[in-house]
Amino acid sequence: MQLADRIAPLQANVFADMDRAKAQARAAGQCIIDLSLGSSDLPTPPHVLSAIAASLQDPDTHGYALFNSTQPFRQAAAEWCQRKFGITADPETEVLALIGSQEGTAHLPLAVLNPGDFALLQDPGYPSHAGGVYLAGGQIYPMPTQADTGFLPVFEDIPPAVLAQAKMMVLSYPHNPTTACASLDFLKSAVAFCQAHGLVLVHDFPYVDLTFDGQTAPSVLQADPDKTVSVEFFTLSKSYNMGGFRVGYAVGNPTLIKALRQIKANVDFNQYRGILRGAIAALNGPQDCVQQTVERFRQRRDAAVAALARIGWDVPTPTATMYIWAKLPAPWATDSIGFSTQLVAATGIAVAPGIGFGKSGEGYVRLALVHDPEVLDQAIPKIGNFLAK
Ligand SMILES: Cc1ncc(COP(=O)(O)O)c(C=O)c1O
Repeated sequence: MQLADRIAPLQANVFADMDRAKAQARAAGQCIIDLSLGSSDLPTPPHVLSAIAASLQDPDTHGYALFNSTQPFRQAAAEWCQRKFGITADPETEVLALIGSQEGTAHLPLAVLNPGDFALLQDPGYPSHAGGVYLAGGQIYPMPTQADTGFLPVFEDIPPAVLAQAKMMVLSYPHNPTTACASLDFLKSAVAFCQAHGLVLVHDFPYVDLTFDGQTAPSVLQADPDKTVSVEFFTLSKSYNMGGFRVGYAVGNPTLIKALRQIKANVDFNQYRGILRGAIAALNGPQDCVQQTVERFRQRRDAAVAALARIGWDVPTPTATMYIWAKLPAPWATDSIGFSTQLVAATGIAVAPGIGFGKSGEGYVRLALVHDPEVLDQAIPKIGNFLAK
């Protein structure tokens, strides 16, 4: 069977290689401690689950959730943005419900790019940002996002020929996988750059709440209050541990919101209304559950950084996200896949190879803090033994 050419770039996925390596290690009798996936192990708050459970018994939730039924959700999202950032967004024209931010960020390029247009993406970055560009027939210009520049891309380094053909830039801070944060001034410089070059600015913002030690995570809409070029993607997956429920939203420039809605209208009928009700309960309800989640990840971060130091692997202490971005020791500096596959085979501990997030991620691995300190304290010495061999 002859499939479309656009499938080809989607097939190179090192995470599929890691899945195979985990399955082989499991089959060989290893007990797997999986630190490779950024899927929270923490439970969804009870009041959110109650709202969803009550919805199941309500036949009003059983039909298609077209735009009218997303109105209370869009309203709750707009009010949340107002409370959190002082951003005013019109729920009718500037907010759109999503089936997770991955869905939204992957569909947006269909609304923005013509075939051959460039999208400027962070390298390393989140894989579906690239996937969406490939699906739209666009080209990717990887903006190196590395330690020497504080994990911030340098806009001046983008070649003029690429800029002439570029239509969008995607940023995401706090950043997965590097854990870096961006200041409001940096976001303002990104807005000015995109305005000057006629680019759409996409900000993927799943870790908006997952910051520690007084670190703040500004919104791109604070940097672009008139929403001239920007659209921001939010999710309930991280702050409320709702990854499996698939719910998020976009807020931003009304032309972009309308265009994304037009794309989605051909693809989906929105999330189940009961889950939207759960999301409303999350956004409008008490926020101490978010603080508890942040505290759990802070404790795990401290445990992981300390345990890594004990095995002689010094990593910076992240001030945001649910990850550790660890530079590999010299023998593995150009082989994050080899390190990750051999580590899981030898110890059962799975980490994500940095190159899976882009070429500039080579030489690093990402540890997701999806286990409590007791498990991390058990896992990390095994990494030490592996390195010692
Ligand atoms: C940068 C980034 N964007 C999007 C997602 C996926 O979010 P959602 O569950 O809303 O699709 C993740 C999840 O890890 C992420 O790190």
